Amino acid sequence: MSDLPSVYYNDNPKSFAYPTCHKRWPIIIKDGIRDVKSKFDSKNSITGEEIVSKLQTLLESLKNDEIVVPFTEQEIQRNPDLTHYNDTLAKFNKSKPVTWLTGPWLFLECYIYQLINNFMLETNDSFWLNFDLFEELKNNTFKQSEFGVLELCKRYEVLSQQLNTQSVDLDTLKLLFNEFIDISLWGNATDLSLLAGNVTLEDIKSVQGAEVRKKNEEKILINDLPNAWERLTGNKSNKSKRVDVILDNSGFELFTDLVLGLFLLDSKLIDEFHIHVKSIPWFVSDTMTKDFHNLLEQLIEPEFFTDIHKIDEDSHAIKFLQSKLVHYLKEDKIIINEDRFWTLDYNYWEISTNPAAKKLYQDLQKSDLVIFKGDLNYRKLTGDLMWDRTTPFPKAIQSLATSGLPVLSLRTCKADVVVGLPKGVDEQLIETYKAMGNEIGEFWASSGKWAVISFNQ
Ligand code: F6P
Ligand code: MG
Repeated sequence: MSDLPSVYYNDNPKSFAYPTCHKRWPIIIKDGIRDVKSKFDSKNSITGEEIVSKLQTLLESLKNDEIVVPFTEQEIQRNPDLTHYNDTLAKFNKSKPVTWLTGPWLFLECYIYQLINNFMLETNDSFWLNFDLFEELKNNTFKQSEFGVLELCKRYEVLSQQLNTQSVDLDTLKLLFNEFIDISLWGNATDLSLLAGNVTLEDIKSVQGAEVRKKNEEKILINDLPNAWERLTGNKSNKSKRVDVILDNSGFELFTDLVLGLFLLDSKLIDEFHIHVKSIPWFVSDTMTKDFHNLLEQLIEPEFFTDIHKIDEDSHAIKFLQSKLVHYLKEDKIIINEDRFWTLDYNYWEISTNPAAKKLYQDLQKSDLVIFKGDLNYRKLTGDLMWDRTTPFPKAIQSLATSGLPVLSLRTCKADVVVGLPKGVDEQLIETYKAMGNEIGEFWASSGKWAVISFNQ
């Protein structure tokens, strides 16, 4: 590991790690305390109090920049996933004791979500064991996406009729592929953990419309999509085709990913669409299996999207899309996959070699395109290392580049690590971002205003 660049650390004021650990983590934990308290009833309040008290202790240790304590034997017995966290913590501790506000950013962020999950496990109370601290936030924010959801439902209804009644040539399919990838990419522009920062719901709405997406085209700094298209359509054998998506956020982003899946299935470009979800609440908004099922219900629930269901035409479009999703799910053409590897603290280049990912790797090898959505997945792909920003993507993803997996990353940039940029672009963007009135130009990379589409053959 020694010849690799360093990871980003929380005490680097020019890294997005700094505002994340100082401002956003405390807000996320405080909101969590409020939400746990709001769920107290006569049966769960004693165990609930235990969770609140542990969250409060965590908050204090963050604020006081205390040393990060390893998971105990008992905790590991309850959840063996934590063993590797302790091993990694011990490695980082060798150079200097890891504290919350000075330690390695990505590792500690994953650690926090495992800790919170652990608080729930420790109660051994079925209510808290199934409790997602972030569910209310996920649902409330999805509600705000009504306009974007409706626009896409209508677009899909028209498209679906065209695909059913006309023969569509490959060039047209390629244009449509670009369009739906673009929708899925910008669906990642906002995520709920950012709501703890300075992103407003108005900001969220403003990135969900077609017009804005069009304007944002020049904000895609790297676009390897033509190569991914070649990979997907190049193999003319009769073997059935499949696309996998390592999902990121639930709600609107998940919705856009599913619309991409519908297009790929309807157009017969693929036969199976596999989606990979998290098994525990993760980075606030990441998709879990139950979030997928919630979304299916929410789409047709008149009390959820209140405006859509008032007008027949709108209501028809949304019901049509929802029924297609249900249909493909029943036919096993949309397949949900849950694997604990995604919430371990490994870099993704270990997928092909790590025993913990053995089954997952075998499964992903059957895929014709593996799409990694979002910022966190990109950080895990590149190790969240301080790569020079001109480093080629295949180098930054290390052995994953030669693993045989056709990796496509769709990411709006919300953290420091960026690779594959042409020479000079980073310097230009630092100046541009400063000229936009921001004090730290380097924060262009975490502003969510730019994006990259990176592919490894
Ligand atoms: O909390 C900070 C962070 O890790 C950012 O780096 C990242 O933008 C976000 O959480 C998660 O983003 P995404 O949902 O796109 O993976
Ligand atoms: Mg996320």
